[in-house]
Amino acid sequence: MSLEKFRLDGKVALVTGGNRGIGLAIAQIFGEAGARVVISGRTRTDAVDELCADENYDWVQGDVTDPSTPDRIVAATLERFGALDILVNNAGIADDGNFHEFDDERLAAITDTNFTAPFRIARSAVQPMLEQGGGVILNIGSISAYVANKPQLQVAYNASKAAVHQMSRVMAYEYADRGIRVNALAPGYVVSDMTKGGIAKEDWNRVWTENTPMGRFAQPEEMATCALFLCSPASSYVTGTVLSADGGYTTH
Ligand SMILES: NC(=O)c1ccc[n+]([C@@H]2O[C@H](COP(=O)([O-])OP(=O)(O)OC[C@H]3O[C@@H](n4cnc5c(N)ncnc54)[C@H](OP(=O)(O)O)[C@@H]3O)[C@@H](O)[C@H]2O)c1
Repeated sequence: MSLEKFRLDGKVALVTGGNRGIGLAIAQIFGEAGARVVISGRTRTDAVDELCADENYDWVQGDVTDPSTPDRIVAATLERFGALDILVNNAGIADDGNFHEFDDERLAAITDTNFTAPFRIARSAVQPMLEQGGGVILNIGSISAYVANKPQLQVAYNASKAAVHQMSRVMAYEYADRGIRVNALAPGYVVSDMTKGGIAKEDWNRVWTENTPMGRFAQPEEMATCALFLCSPASSYVTGTVLSADGGYTTH
């Protein structure tokens, strides 16, 4: 047994939404672990500029809700680094509000970004993975797939993440005997642009903290280490699972 199994030397990864937040932390740790990483997102951030000064990183711009993006970002990864070993479907958005007032436009934004896009990107990634004899897909889900969030109400987001978890399980079943592992990661509350508004609201912050047995929010790096495990050979027998990293939120 060797700690080398936690490394990604020689592997090529594509991380959607890798320009900030959890995706950026995943892109960073993958590079530290020896991978070459293509970062995708709509906005090229300063953090992307810094990482791309290293030849082991590259950037491809793309809105994941554009149906032409999945094939294009997968092709860009293959062209740049010659393989696609790891796909992290991380890009996502959140929106909250009463169920009966949640209109079609907001519903479409959530489902297009959080479910249809990861479905399409994984679909684009599977063929090259089959041709090269295997790969790993990690979909970023959420504890919202399991609970009703409080105090904010967000049915569409929660349902989209439940779909991501189930997509991961069924894809894992379909490809288990062809070398492609598929898992999901279900974060609890993580400090990022997505949560900063809620963290700043005293009442939301208190409810989120009180319902997290560890009594604190996670940092993106604490999701990145989980992602590294799930995407490295250290988890070679793990497929079709959802790893919760939530400070104990879903224990009660
Ligand atoms: N933060 C949490 O507490 C938490 C908890 C559970 C699950 N999650 C999940 O973790 C993932 C990352 O969230 P985060 O907390 O890091 O949020 P974030 O800081 O808001 O980052 C969201 C990322 O998704 C990208 N993105 C959004 N819409 C996109 C689109 N149409 N096309 C391409 N990229 C798009 C953003 O890049 P651009 O805007 O530049 O495109 C950004 O990189 C999401 O799937 C989220 O649902 C987060």
